[in-house]
Amino acid sequence: MPTIRERWSSRSSFVFAAIGSAIGLGNVWRFPYITYQNGGGAFLIPYFVALITAGIPLMILEYYVGQETQRAPPTALKKIWKKSEWIGWFSVCLVFLLSTYYSTIMSWCVNYFYQSFTLGWGSTPEAINNFFNNTLLGKSGSPGILGGIQMPVLIGLAITWISIYLCLFRGVKILGKIVYFTVCIPWLLLIIMVIRGLSLPGAIEGLNFYLTPDFSVLLKPQAWLAAYGQIFYTLSLAMGTLIIYASYQPKDSDITANAFITSLANCGTAFLAGFAVFSTLGYLAQSMGVSVPEVTKSGLGLAFVTYPTAINLLPVASRFFGAFFFLLLLTLGIDSAFSEVEPVVGSIVDKWGLKKKWVLPLVCIFGFLVGILYSTRGGFYWVDLADHFICNYGITLVGLLECIVIGYVFGARKARSCINEVSDVRIGPWWDVFIKFITPIVLGVSFIMQLIKLIQNGYGNYPIWTIFTGMGFIVLLLILSVILSRRKGVSDE
Ligand code: PFF
Repeated sequence: MPTIRERWSSRSSFVFAAIGSAIGLGNVWRFPYITYQNGGGAFLIPYFVALITAGIPLMILEYYVGQETQRAPPTALKKIWKKSEWIGWFSVCLVFLLSTYYSTIMSWCVNYFYQSFTLGWGSTPEAINNFFNNTLLGKSGSPGILGGIQMPVLIGLAITWISIYLCLFRGVKILGKIVYFTVCIPWLLLIIMVIRGLSLPGAIEGLNFYLTPDFSVLLKPQAWLAAYGQIFYTLSLAMGTLIIYASYQPKDSDITANAFITSLANCGTAFLAGFAVFSTLGYLAQSMGVSVPEVTKSGLGLAFVTYPTAINLLPVASRFFGAFFFLLLLTLGIDSAFSEVEPVVGSIVDKWGLKKKWVLPLVCIFGFLVGILYSTRGGFYWVDLADHFICNYGITLVGLLECIVIGYVFGARKARSCINEVSDVRIGPWWDVFIKFITPIVLGVSFIMQLIKLIQNGYGNYPIWTIFTGMGFIVLLLILSVILSRRKGVSDE
């Protein structure tokens, strides 16, 4: 066991690291699209309700668990309740998998960044579509056909993993300095993108679509589920990241104010990103003479097909803005990517007392090797499937279990009084109600509804065996987590 725990150099380093983890690729392609799909401006209501009723309470909980125990997720949860170590390992397995496909999406950004200098993705919408699907990804048509490896994706992946390693290898003190850059640079780029977007003709049309409220969605459970799902993903909850980051804080540091700052900064950035994305989409729609919904693609297509199309149409400096946009994605994503690796490394170090300088490169190499699957011609489908299973079932399950352990076994009231002892902003009994009832009920309902939907309709157009593989994998990870929790570690002596 390391005798002296690593420490952030200041409170702001910790807050920036948490903000950096939260603000990621999800803020640019996921938030605006989900907002648009679920009632535009009206979606902000469920979104902020989800933030208040689940996001902030769970973030306070995770900061508390990390800070109080001074340990990575598995050993931290074990300290809270002996039998809950496996929950920590489960979150670590999930976040490792998340890091493997997140780094693949980063690799696509690396390739687009490179191409943006020559607008190498082509000039017509068809060419751009073809570039993403065929030239870069070489899509095989089915997850069952892996085909060969796409070299540019593999090279981008190697660059991403090397960057992750370089950010993490000097430890938390240096990381605390790196995050100032990885948070501030994208903020700056984003503001420029918003100004540029708003100055384009047609921008107002785009913003109308983004923001015009359709209040009927408030009656649809789907919008509420989407809001909760997005809050969990965007705040990096239930993945061990916040626990490990908080464990590098001194035990008497503030908890609640940090949680409020992190979550509001993240959601504010997501909201702002919507302006950059939708103003540009408005411009694209006007230039192509179609309506905004026609150019609004879901998820990844938005960043890699729609956006480059809009960039091409810019009257001046299109290469410059192309590079700008992908640099924005890279700087946004890198601090989320390394925040997915740190809990894995920290958990192994804390449990077995191994040296970080050996564990980190091994985890990075292993992550890269798993990423080879996503670099194949069938890789795109596996990225999509992994994202679906981890975000819809994994995160919800871990969040639910954490609430039960703290709310019922450890005691929400006891946790709250410890949190209030060190925090500037005191939290009232409302927090207990959220942790014991509201958050777990929402998570439980969401888990069951997603499962029913999966059983009834499958997922996308994927063959049924992929659904079994995904579910089987989650079960396998659960078994692995139990096995890992039973192994003797240094702290057991
Ligand atoms: N919050 C990140 C995003 O919005 O892109 C994604 C993420 C990072 C999720 C780290 C989970 C995590 F542990």
